[in-house]
This record gives sequence, structure tokens and C-alpha cells, in this order.
Amino acid sequence: MELFGGNYKIQDIDVADLARTFGTPLYVYDGNKIIQQFKTLRNAFSASDIKIKYAAKALTNLTVLKLLRAHGSDVDVVSIEEARLALLAGFKPEQIMFTPSGVAFEEIVQGADLGLTINIDNLPTLEKFGQKYGDSYPCSIRLNPHIMAGGNYKISTGHTHSKFGISIAQLSDIKQTVKRYHLRVNGLHIHTGSDITESEVFLKMARVLFDVAHDFPDLRFIDMGSGFKVAYKEGDAVTNVYDLGLKLTREFNDFCQKYGRKLELHFEPGKFIVSEAGILLVQVNVVEQTPVLTFVGVNSGFNHLARPMMYEAWHDIVNISNPTGTQKTYTVVGYICETDTFASDRKISEVREGDLLAIKNAGAYGYSMASNYNSRLRPAEVLILNGKAILIREREQFEDLLRHQPDIDL
Ligand code: LLP
Repeated sequence: MELFGGNYKIQDIDVADLARTFGTPLYVYDGNKIIQQFKTLRNAFSASDIKIKYAAKALTNLTVLKLLRAHGSDVDVVSIEEARLALLAGFKPEQIMFTPSGVAFEEIVQGADLGLTINIDNLPTLEKFGQKYGDSYPCSIRLNPHIMAGGNYKISTGHTHSKFGISIAQLSDIKQTVKRYHLRVNGLHIHTGSDITESEVFLKMARVLFDVAHDFPDLRFIDMGSGFKVAYKEGDAVTNVYDLGLKLTREFNDFCQKYGRKLELHFEPGKFIVSEAGILLVQVNVVEQTPVLTFVGVNSGFNHLARPMMYEAWHDIVNISNPTGTQKTYTVVGYICETDTFASDRKISEVREGDLLAIKNAGAYGYSMASNYNSRLRPAEVLILNGKAILIREREQFEDLLRHQPDIDL
């Protein structure tokens, strides 16, 4: 989204027109930006056999999945439902990495029945997998490298107290299980967390994988998970993917030589691909001056965008209806009946009742984490692709809230 001649636009489309056509609250995604991000990442690692497995959980809309598939992406899924969406979007089973966390073994079996690449993240499941499949179906193993990384504790997944992955200290248990059941381990995987800026963290974790890899002769890929950080505000630190690409590719290619074979390098980016491409467009219901501050109340809340309340995440907010007005300080709040703050002490061009605000960086973990709390309806989603606005999910209706509730007479 850019300011052109006094109007906010996505490609050539006026953002205010989108609100008029589709209503608010509205999620809007710039499809060309999504593709651009995908290509940036692929180019950064082009010197190795790179496979990008888009982390569907960030934004699961079927049309977005189709868009990424059409441009050469594979996909990473964490539930059998996400796997079914990916299949519907046209991904082939072999393009789908299934990385669930602590699910029932039946779900793993369903994944194998569908022909997915199965990534196992705990020892009891590895044991059951060995008993059922032996060497008849390969699996990948998710390791916990004991590395603390990530933007905040809730999104750090590679430390000793995290539930994710089999501890690197239990490597001998993994090897025993693999040996006992003649398991064919086709991949090794680590995902240490989200919002990681330093290349060094990725390199550290790569070295853990490279070391361990020598114990597994059947590998086809090394999966580095994700965690690439994008800018949430001006001047924000980001992962320099070109710097990382250069350094990591060098070490990866050296490793492959020692391993004796070229392996694929996998990444599973979510935020990097879709975060900046998305906005949540909302309308101002009320501007209220208290003795202490000025609240701007909008027609949305943490039911639609949970990140500010859940992670204290920063999302830039701009006034679409008054882009060049005098900057004033506001606290932007949602309509949910508990503390529901999108932004505190924020400078925004003067806000009037009825104005449209865009909450930026809402493409990743926005709609996909939305709920019906307070019995509010979830917004519509629109994709802007090659200058055209396409409705890719209808706004929910009141009937959707009742859909699964039988009308019981008491
Ligand atoms: N691979 C695995 C195994 C993951 O668990 C995740 C994210 C990703 C890839 C993608 O990570 P990304 O590129 O998006 O950083 N809801 C939180 C983020 C949770 C991430 C969960 N796992 C947020 O809004 O910040």
C-alpha cells in the first residue's frame, strides 16, 4: 500500500474504494507483493537446491495457497485440515510437509495415507511410527536444538523448555529407535521461532543439523523452518535474507560435499511471504477524548487481529480518509468487551468519526487467528492481483454463528 497523489492505493486501486465495494472490516492482500516476497527468498538461496514450503498457518485462504503454488511454492502444514486445504489448492502430496505438534497418532497415519512428508516432533510418536511403518514409509525428524531465539517467548520454539522437537540431547534415543525399526529418515528439521533477525542464529542451527546429519544416511533434505523477520515499523530490524543466503549457501554446499550427496535445502516462511502484503481495513466508530487520552474506537478487535493483544505486537496504523492531516496522538481500541488495544500513544493523521484506518502488516496470523469472540462475524478477504480486486472470502453472516448449533427445545 502506497500514498499516490494524496490517496492510499494498492497497485492502482484506491483503498477507500475497496471499503465502499466490500465493506469493513476487511482484510486486503496484495497478491503481487506476496509473489515478490516469494521470489526474493528464492533468489537469496538460489545457489542451492532450495524449496520454499510456505507455512500455510500464516494465511490459509485457498486462493492465496493457489497463488503461491502457481508460482512454484511448496507448502508446510500443521494439521490434517491444512493438508486438505493444500490438496484442494492443487499441491501434490509430495509438495506438502506435515509438521504437526503433539497430535494423536491417527492424524500422523492420515497424513501418511495422503502421501505427505511426515515430520515427527517427539519420541513416543517416532516409536509408534517405527512400529507401524518400519522402513515402508520415510519420515523426517524435528529436532529441538536448545537455542533461544525469536521475537518473544511465545513465539520461541527451539529452547529447552519448548514443547517442539526432539531434544538434541536425546539424539542417541532417536538413533536407537531408527535402528530398531529400520526407519528411513529422509529429512532433518529445526524451527527455532518467529521474528529472528540475526543470520548467526540460523547459521548456528544449521550447524546443529549438519552435525547430526552424518548419522542419517537416507536424507533427501535439510529443513531450516523459518523465523525471517519483516519490518513492522520504520527502522525495524529485519532478517537480511541475502546476507543469510550467501553465508548459509556456502556452509550448506560444503556440508553436502562432506555428506557425499547434494541435498535439498528447505525453508517454511509464513510472515516473510504474506505479512507486509496484508492490511486490515477498519472504520472509526467513535473518537473519545478523556481527561487522559484520546481513544479511537474501531469496528474490529482482537477477534479479528489478535497479535497486538497476544504478543504486544506493533502494527502501524494509517488514516486512509485523511492521509495528510495533522498528526495527533491516539489510543486505537477495538470493540471487544475486555481490554482490546490495537495501538497506544500512536501518532496518526487527525481521526474523525467514520474515517477508514488501515492496520498494516496484517497478512500473516491475522485472519488465520481470527475468532467469533463476542459473537462477532469474521471479515471478508480481498486479494488484489494484477490490478484487480477479487473477493476471496465472503464476510460471515449471522447464520454462520448458528450453523452447527441444533435448535434444542427445552
Ligand atoms: N515452520 C514451523 C514449523 C512453524 O511452527 C512456523 C510458525 C513457521 C514455519 C512459520 O514461521 P514464520 O515464517 O511465520 O515466522 N502467531 C505468531 C507466530 C507463530 C508462529 C508459529 N509457527 C505471530 O503472529 O507472531
